[in-house]
Amino acid sequence: MEKYVIKGGVPLDGEVTIAGAKNAALGILAAAILTDDECIIENVPYVEDTKVLLRAIEALGATVKYIDLHTVSIMGKTIDRDNLCVDDEYIRKIRASYYLLGSMLGKFKYAQVALPGGCDIGLRPIDQHIKGFEALGAKVDIVSGGKVVAKADELIGRHIYMDVVSVGATINIMMAAALAEGKTTIENAAKEPHIVDVANFLNSMGANIKGAGTDVIRIRGVQRLVGTEYSIIPDQIEAGTFMTMAVATKGNILIKNVIPKHMEAISSKLSEIGATVIEYDDSIRVMADGRMKSTQIKTLPYPGFPTDMQPQMATTLALSSGNSIITESIFENRFKYVNELARMGARIKVEGNSAIITGIEKYSGANLVAPDLRAGAALVIAALAAEGCSTIEDIKYILRGYEDFDGKIRALGGQIEIVDNDRDEQKFKLRVS
Ligand code: UD1
Repeated sequence: MEKYVIKGGVPLDGEVTIAGAKNAALGILAAAILTDDECIIENVPYVEDTKVLLRAIEALGATVKYIDLHTVSIMGKTIDRDNLCVDDEYIRKIRASYYLLGSMLGKFKYAQVALPGGCDIGLRPIDQHIKGFEALGAKVDIVSGGKVVAKADELIGRHIYMDVVSVGATINIMMAAALAEGKTTIENAAKEPHIVDVANFLNSMGANIKGAGTDVIRIRGVQRLVGTEYSIIPDQIEAGTFMTMAVATKGNILIKNVIPKHMEAISSKLSEIGATVIEYDDSIRVMADGRMKSTQIKTLPYPGFPTDMQPQMATTLALSSGNSIITESIFENRFKYVNELARMGARIKVEGNSAIITGIEKYSGANLVAPDLRAGAALVIAALAAEGCSTIEDIKYILRGYEDFDGKIRALGGQIEIVDNDRDEQKFKLRVS
């Protein structure tokens, strides 16, 4: 089985270019089937999650072509209307399979999709998605085999108040409402950058969506959507991961292809603990020298500190002086990396939904297992900062969301390799020792 082998202790230095936003791409790729026309989508990150979703879209009968590694053409015209069923074994593995519920329901008034999987970071219900679809007039059932079936004679715009701020439900309801009759209002909507990106994509297809990025989104349904060409925004979380990597390894990284505004919650926390963060038009330089200070962080929906950056930030704070506290308010099971960091010497105590961190001077290399996508990235950061060699198993989680992660780290001077046997692991260790 493939794993990372990493020799830590090198301050990362250089430039890295951030890929398109995975979470925006997942919404946009699913939304592309709302039209029969061809949609050309650029800046699609070449990661497992997007590859799996594209495979599912193709399995529905859509014509899917990679024009180049990051540009995808999708034409929904060829979808088999008698088989609007996504029951791929793979699709259960990705959370975003549920976006096909919204787009198929919007387009065909019928959708059958296997219940979503994704990272095991706590209970991840889809009641708000279902509430939204039902408000628009759909009947939604969960049938045997764990499938969600949504159907409607027609979809009619409504006023929908979301009981919890949900990224997925906001995107799903936007997609279903784009072709509904009349006006839909989503109140208490999520405001993440990828909500705005999906709304912009839909508008470029001819939808009429206003207010994305605020907590009230207004959608006036249109008769039909048309083909478009669209480029996805840069990935906020990949950028944030490299920002924390610069700090944890006491390096100096120019992170290119970012929207600095999307990074504010992360930039301001890193500045607060003592890192130098310089913003340019579409890049950010992060430098750190010496030991950082402690702080307190609470994860919140955008524009608050993103839950998807919580493990990477905790890993960085565990090397700072003094005591830090990180409170996780979005998901209830997002501290599984703490036990792994403890093997590297970290002193972190989890109490309820808070991690109480007592900073240490250095991590020591250890054999680790990635518990999920972002926690896996956090362990890579820890291993790069650590003294000695580490291995990280279950990198399949990390590959779901980071394109060429090891290649980008190597270009910054990091010593990391993917190996799948003991001999290659030993060869790497001999080479770096
Ligand atoms: C998306 C992101 C994920 C990120 C999360 C929060 C994608 C593919 N994934 O996940 O990386 O960590 O946003 O920023 O974009 N909830 C309900 N009922 C629902 C839906 C959600 O109670 O119907 C709860 C969840 O359990 C969670 C909170 O709402 O506590 C936020 O979840 P949500 O924003 O929906 O996250 P995802 O869309 O799953």
